Amino acid sequence: MRFFVDTANIEEIRKANEMGIICGVTTNPSLIAKEGRDFKQVIEEIASIVDGPISGEVKATTADAAGMIEEGRQIAAIHPNMVVKIPMTSEGLKAVKVLTGAGIKTNVTLVFSAAQALLAARAGATYVSPFLGRLDDISMPGIDLIEEITEIFSIHEIETEIIAASIRNPIHVIDCAKAGADIATVPYPVLEQMTRHPLTDQGIKKFQDDYRKVFGE
Ligand code: E4P
Repeated sequence: MRFFVDTANIEEIRKANEMGIICGVTTNPSLIAKEGRDFKQVIEEIASIVDGPISGEVKATTADAAGMIEEGRQIAAIHPNMVVKIPMTSEGLKAVKVLTGAGIKTNVTLVFSAAQALLAARAGATYVSPFLGRLDDISMPGIDLIEEITEIFSIHEIETEIIAASIRNPIHVIDCAKAGADIATVPYPVLEQMTRHPLTDQGIKKFQDDYRKVFGE
């Protein structure tokens, strides 16, 4: 399983990239709004840092296929690594089909069922993004959805890649890796959490103390 970072914050993207563990970035309208900066400017900055797929989503106010196609073309024109993120609706599927036909990569987002994932794949989506955390929030195990989609895609040899999204903690990440997700898009604080273990900290301290006792600073 590969990692994307799920943020529009340049500092977080820079730090995750320097760690050497991410190969892409996902954003969404909420994450862009949180930064309070121009969409194109943010995306261009991200593209100057990370050399991999960058998902930019059509505006939350664009609901019809024609609008999504128009906006999708503009997003794709920002940088060759752009992936157009489209919400999972019937209009969204129409837009995915047209954009795919034009050679533009797409990421179908807000996927909450295997049926939605299958439709998105058949419309030609490059990626589907099932949301774990938001399912957990309503007491439905999000991981079951990842398992179901990986099973279906494997049976039918579907090439659309599964991006496990709405990740809230390291356990989500490990469960997604075990379930066979291709990618997990992870918020930076969770990536940081994944680096830590109390025994690692204790071990470093003991190595330093033992060394200092004999050799000093
Ligand atoms: C996915 O691409 C979305 O940006 C993201 O994972 C949503 O996560 P949330 O449920 O924490 O907002």
